Amino acid sequence: MKARSSFSGKLGYVLAVAGSAVGLGNIWRFPYLAAKYGGGIFLLVYMILMLTFGYALIVSETALGRMTKRSPVGAFQFFGKSIPFRLGGWINAVIPMLIVPYYSVIGGWVTKYLFEYLRGSTEILAAENYFPEFIANSFSTGFWFLLFSLVVVAVLIAGVEHGVERVSKTMMPLLVILAIFVAGYSMTRPGAWEGVKYFLIPNLKNFSWMTVVAAMGQMFYSLSIAMGILYTYGSYIKKDVDIEKSTTQVEVFDTAIALLAGLMIIPAVFAFSGGDPNTLKAGPSLMFITIPKVFASMGFGRGAGIMFFLLVLLAALTSAISLAESGVSTFEDQFGLSRRKSALVMGGMIVGLGMASALGFGVLDFVSLLGMSILDFFDFLTNSIMMPVAALATCLLITKVVGLDRIAKEVEQSSAFKRKGLYNLFLRYLAPICIVIILISSIANVFGWITM
Ligand code: PFF
Repeated sequence: MKARSSFSGKLGYVLAVAGSAVGLGNIWRFPYLAAKYGGGIFLLVYMILMLTFGYALIVSETALGRMTKRSPVGAFQFFGKSIPFRLGGWINAVIPMLIVPYYSVIGGWVTKYLFEYLRGSTEILAAENYFPEFIANSFSTGFWFLLFSLVVVAVLIAGVEHGVERVSKTMMPLLVILAIFVAGYSMTRPGAWEGVKYFLIPNLKNFSWMTVVAAMGQMFYSLSIAMGILYTYGSYIKKDVDIEKSTTQVEVFDTAIALLAGLMIIPAVFAFSGGDPNTLKAGPSLMFITIPKVFASMGFGRGAGIMFFLLVLLAALTSAISLAESGVSTFEDQFGLSRRKSALVMGGMIVGLGMASALGFGVLDFVSLLGMSILDFFDFLTNSIMMPVAALATCLLITKVVGLDRIAKEVEQSSAFKRKGLYNLFLRYLAPICIVIILISSIANVFGWITM
């Protein structure tokens, strides 16, 4: 048995969780969902879900990890060996394996943009059709995707992820400073104020049921919930880490970055396209369409572009590595594979599934899965279907098997459990009900039984 590694201290733990939380989810995914699903009302729903639901789930997963000292598959089997326990653990473990391939496709797009800024293509990137033409070019997207994935797999095989993490942690403050600067610039463009209002002020007219579904998926994604990651991190911490306090710190930090990213991108949509509904609904391409326009319109645009995409690339790389790392450790622990073999299996999955997502806008654009492109399909499958199921499995494990009292005892080992009442109410009633409703509506929406 290998000795379980542990974090050096409380700060080390918070930084590691925050490092896994902050990634493309905040900078690329959050702004496009907020733009698409109602602006301020999306933000409001997101905040409410995060402070209640997200909070309860982070505490649950961390406490279970710390209690069992195991990653999700092992943690579930710690309490029972029958099929439901196996399924509960495995669904948590499989999700990151399905996310990292398409995450790496976006990572490839970011790498390409960095390359172009380095070459001085500031104006070209801001041209109207640049992005759609780029992703339709299978050779090019395939190439940049492979490059990004190779770096991820190389780091996994070499086992030097901690080195990469260290670089990224020192870069994180730089990303924040640059983001504040770009957001400030973007918000002060003529016409941008409408965008600030759209993003920050809730308007019930923009509400649809999809707002809730999308906000919930994003909450899981952004906080790295319901993908086994927090079990694993929880298993590394000592009994003196205040689980509630560190959860709050991670949530505040993660949301602050997402808000900044929203303030960079959404006002720019209004400044450069007058809030055109088609641009607002651009989806995954939004960051790649608006940010280059902001940079092309300012002095030092090329320098800003280089810095921005370099920092986003680092955030993407560390997130992709930690997602893939979780897959690798599942293969090692459950199938007894060597590290090298596990990394190669994970690499094979990334290249196979990711290439399909990358080419889904080019040579494979005739493939439509439930009306979605391949990349959108994997995003939907993991965020809107599998993560709610994984979260439900955690809730049921706690309420039916482990017992709320044992979780409370685990949390209380380091500090008083201040929000215990809210936590219990959530886990017992609200969370399972919400999850089931969300799940049914996502499925109904895809099959067109209801339109949202
Ligand atoms: N939370 C990350 C993001 O918002 O981009 C995604 C993620 C990265 C989840 C790494 C899990 C993880 F281990």
